[in-house]
Amino acid sequence: MKSLLELEQVDAFYGAAHILHKLDLRVGEGERVALIGRNGVGKTTVVNTVLGLASMRGGSVRIAGKPLPRPRTYMAAQEGVAVVPQGRRIVANLTVEENLQLGAANGRKGPWNIPAIYQLFPILQERAHTPGTALSGGQQQMLAVGRALMANPSLILLDEPTEGLAPVVVDQLAEIFNSVADRGTALLLIEQNMTLVARVAHRYCAMAKGSVVAEGRVHEEGLDALHRHVMV
Ligand SMILES: Nc1ncnc2c1ncn2[C@@H]1O[C@H](COP(=O)(O)OP(=O)(O)OP(=O)(O)O)[C@@H](O)[C@H]1O
Ligand SMILES: [Mg+2]
Repeated sequence: MKSLLELEQVDAFYGAAHILHKLDLRVGEGERVALIGRNGVGKTTVVNTVLGLASMRGGSVRIAGKPLPRPRTYMAAQEGVAVVPQGRRIVANLTVEENLQLGAANGRKGPWNIPAIYQLFPILQERAHTPGTALSGGQQQMLAVGRALMANPSLILLDEPTEGLAPVVVDQLAEIFNSVADRGTALLLIEQNMTLVARVAHRYCAMAKGSVVAEGRVHEEGLDALHRHVMV
């Protein structure tokens, strides 16, 4: 299976703070991988390292086989990796449609465009010309997913996409993630909700203190075993 994202023995820092320690992680074409672990173990820092927002001082990052010695946000998009950031980061001064267009800025050509996103999320079409931040939390999350798809990625990194959302919205998002993955896009789902992990992911990697410490097939573990990696 072709690798879309490979981190090998990565050491990453914020200033002098050493957060990731010899971290190994790989996502192959079409895979659905969950990255789990307690608050503060460094899950978002994995994303930030791929985007060049945390500084990598050891190890390597490869996207689609291409080494990125100095990763940058635009490079990830160009090479086919899009991000749905933790906290959604919808741009307040832009409309829903303008927020979607932002996602295409450094992206690639492919099937995803504004009409295709509106077909997936009809509510975004209804709200197309309202400010992105006027949407409900669940709708903003759909917007963040739509924005990521606009880059026509082969892999989407989803950083706690259901944080703070009502169960009914979490259900809708789970279906969306599965249908996006069914169309061939790989997912790296950072998530604390193990029910969602079991619904979407096939494989999991569990982090502790800045490293991946356990891996396995989601359906060979019970939910209890997965929960043990996120309990405080
Ligand atoms: N910009 C920053 N500067 C310095 N330290 C940071 C910065 N951002 C995060 N940290 C620290 O790095 C560590 C890892 O944070 P990170 O956000 O990657 O954790 P996380 O696993 O995503 O947690 P959560 O589940 O709460 O989102 C934490 O100790 C955090 O306090
Ligand atoms: Mg985080």
